[in-house]
Amino acid sequence: MRKPIIAGNWKMYKTVSEAKDFATKLKPLVADVHDRTILVCPPLTHLQDVCDILCDSNVAVGAQNLFWEDEGAFTGEVSAPMLKSVGCTYVIIGHSERRQYFGETDGTVNKKIFAALKHNLLPIVCVGETLEQREKNETFKVIERQIKEGTKGLGTGDWEKIIIAYEPVWAIGTGKTATPEQAQEVHAYIRKLLPKDVAANIRILYGGSVKPENIKELMAKPDIDGGLVGGASLKVDSFVKLIKY
Ligand code: 13P
Repeated sequence: MRKPIIAGNWKMYKTVSEAKDFATKLKPLVADVHDRTILVCPPLTHLQDVCDILCDSNVAVGAQNLFWEDEGAFTGEVSAPMLKSVGCTYVIIGHSERRQYFGETDGTVNKKIFAALKHNLLPIVCVGETLEQREKNETFKVIERQIKEGTKGLGTGDWEKIIIAYEPVWAIGTGKTATPEQAQEVHAYIRKLLPKDVAANIRILYGGSVKPENIKELMAKPDIDGGLVGGASLKVDSFVKLIKY
């Protein structure tokens, strides 16, 4: 059985005090939820405070990115040991916004996955096609390339720690969710690409305009194991509804 994950990707939203307020309010409201993993991914500057508030709770904290070296002259970057040192346990890798605006590629995704695993951070590896690629019938080809190149060289022990997030770029922040059938089709395809000995255990999250109103039908699909939620994870009420779908 794969334990569902409901993850909030806050992107570049909230001040530190807003983040602390969110974490403080969220904690008691979901204290009774044990059958799914709950995760928030705040901006870097907020991680220490949010981790401090949530360290003794059932809400895990993740980062939205990392660099692949442990330390060095890499101005502006943050490493896996640094994220571990504030209490993070997960890290999002290769989000489409990082691919689109910050030049990330399947090659950098691969290096970042290894850096995260080396320090026992659980990677959430994002894949997804653009609207243009979908319209050209390239969805499966793009996803296959992203998965194969991004995860090149992973061993069975590594795979057990990997989470995949399918986020069609055309559905992110647009209000245009993939239908549960469209998402299921790609999730099933992704699962077939994974190594046979681990495929049934790997969690594949869907992301792209997930809301309290549509999460139930998405989660009803056999290969959808959770949500990576942007906009609808920013308000406590809405995030709690998503967690308790
Ligand atoms: P939205 O839920 O705002 O569409 O964002 C999805 C996303 O990119 C999560 O990583």
